[in-house]
Amino acid sequence: VEMEKGLIFLEGDKVVLRQHIPEDIPRWYAWFNDQEVTRGMFKGLFPNTPKIQESFLDGMYIGNENLQLAIVSKADKELIGTIGLHKIDFFHRNADISIVIGETEAWGKGLGKEALALIVDHAFNKLCLHKVTGGMYANNESSRRLFERVGFIREAVFREHALCQGKFVDAFKYGLLASEWKKSSG
Ligand SMILES: CC(C)(COP(=O)(O)OP(=O)(O)OC[C@H]1O[C@@H](n2cnc3c(N)ncnc32)[C@H](O)[C@@H]1OP(=O)(O)O)[C@@H](O)C(=O)NCCC(=O)NCCS
Repeated sequence: VEMEKGLIFLEGDKVVLRQHIPEDIPRWYAWFNDQEVTRGMFKGLFPNTPKIQESFLDGMYIGNENLQLAIVSKADKELIGTIGLHKIDFFHRNADISIVIGETEAWGKGLGKEALALIVDHAFNKLCLHKVTGGMYANNESSRRLFERVGFIREAVFREHALCQGKFVDAFKYGLLASEWKKSSG
């Protein structure tokens, strides 16, 4: 069961989440230099370099604080993005999620929603976390809708928190509890 060399870690209907491999670096490097991709994120302020991605990959699976996985579309076996659980805290049992689909033609097909649901399920049912959070600029409509569709609740608004295309925009923080996930996933 291999997909583009990396072993499959979590599997859904439309996407699999697998470990990142060095072959991912050129694509990854391109995503974080693409202003269309980084427009709604706290990224794209300085150019990304292959070396930055390489050292990120080197440290990625050391320790149990972060879990970063590649998102691969099952239809064409293509790497389309990356998703991560960050600052995993096993005392308070929470973590923060980030997701980027860097291949823009893969947007809006429900792939992000499935990837998010897979990592949320893993967080609650395997890592035994109690809560996961996610944040986005208030004007990042696709990210906001994505988190809402998976059941996240808006918990905080940070006023005029980020500069986005020349304007200060609010940022939202969303959260989801394990008890709410059990309810929404039947
Ligand atoms: C945010 C992102 C991960 C969403 O992934 P996606 O695969 O495109 O999203 P999905 O197709 O699963 O759609 C999820 C929901 O968002 C909605 N949506 C998707 N794109 C949208 C858009 N451009 N405008 C409005 N709503 C949108 C979908 O309709 C769906 O809601 P619905 O089920 O109510 O119809 C992806 O667009 C992305 O990586 N963007 C760039 C990076 C980024 O901003 N990441 C988030 C940082 S916080």
